[in-house]
Amino acid sequence: MSTSLLLAAAAVRQARTDPTPGAQHNAALARACLERAGKTGRHLLHAVDTAPGRGLLRLVEAGCLPGICAHYAWRKRRIGQWAAQACADGVRQVLILAAGLDGLSQRLLAQTPALRVFEFDRADTLALKRDALRTLGLDDPCLHLCPGELGAVPLARWQRDLPGFVPEQPTLVIAEGVLMYLPLEAAQTLLRQLARALPDARLIATAMDLRPDGAPGFARQRPWVRTWLGRRGEPFRWGAPRQALPGLLGHGGVRLAAIAEPGDPDDPDPAPGEWVFRGDLTHPHHSVPAAPAHARLRAPALP
Ligand SMILES: C[S@@+](CC[C@H](N)C(=O)[O-])C[C@H]1O[C@@H](n2cnc3c(N)ncnc32)[C@H](O)[C@@H]1O
Repeated sequence: MSTSLLLAAAAVRQARTDPTPGAQHNAALARACLERAGKTGRHLLHAVDTAPGRGLLRLVEAGCLPGICAHYAWRKRRIGQWAAQACADGVRQVLILAAGLDGLSQRLLAQTPALRVFEFDRADTLALKRDALRTLGLDDPCLHLCPGELGAVPLARWQRDLPGFVPEQPTLVIAEGVLMYLPLEAAQTLLRQLARALPDARLIATAMDLRPDGAPGFARQRPWVRTWLGRRGEPFRWGAPRQALPGLLGHGGVRLAAIAEPGDPDDPDPAPGEWVFRGDLTHPHHSVPAAPAHARLRAPALP
């Protein structure tokens, strides 16, 4: 079972109690993807759609990472608001790295029809999504699904393969729930390549915090979550405490502008441990403050 299927199941579950259009549209796409995801997808859907199944899911969540589904919704609310604002401010194209089965592109395209959106993820994930979008009548010509492996191909090459992508246009790059799966150096290199290639680009992304034991992860995550993620081939490879984040991101050419406040009294993060932030990608010759010499050393890699 991949993390993108878990997020899709969380989206369907969230929509049961969240009547907002964003949650409902996300759930419709997530459901269509799960229906196409073989036995695992069908089992997840069955669990979400039945009372005993939902009871079981609550138990599993409590035994693995209490509040994680509500955290995903919290993170998506913030990313959705920031992305909508960026589009209202004049962004012309959006590049979503590791978009998974999420429906943010459809919401942004509905809001800004002149926008072009490029989703990047692994081929099997995007094949599932393409089929679901077609069935739902949401296969918009302004949305391009671009299969590939982050870190495997130099940025300049896959950028050439994005049909209609214009590096000079005001661009929003979104990297939600993915940078922590890449080795820190690879994440910084990817961000630096983007900063060099895109003269006018903003970034919205997430990164893990460090737990009291020094490992990257959520504060309330049980020990077996780490083992499970490792077995899935998606371990959290790095994380950073809040004060180290500007330096680590600065090393990737990112000027940090804001971090979503986990302790927001009106809408606190239900499962803290993942930073949601926005900033600008800044060309190395421009004025990103130099990262402290220790910046690359502060975030431990998982064994
Ligand atoms: C936790 S999901 C997040 C999906 C989506 N961004 C969201 O937050 O709803 C992680 C996604 O990253 C993708 N992914 C992980 N490592 C990747 C890599 N090296 N190249 C491309 N995609 C990757 C997976 O296929 C998956 O869709």
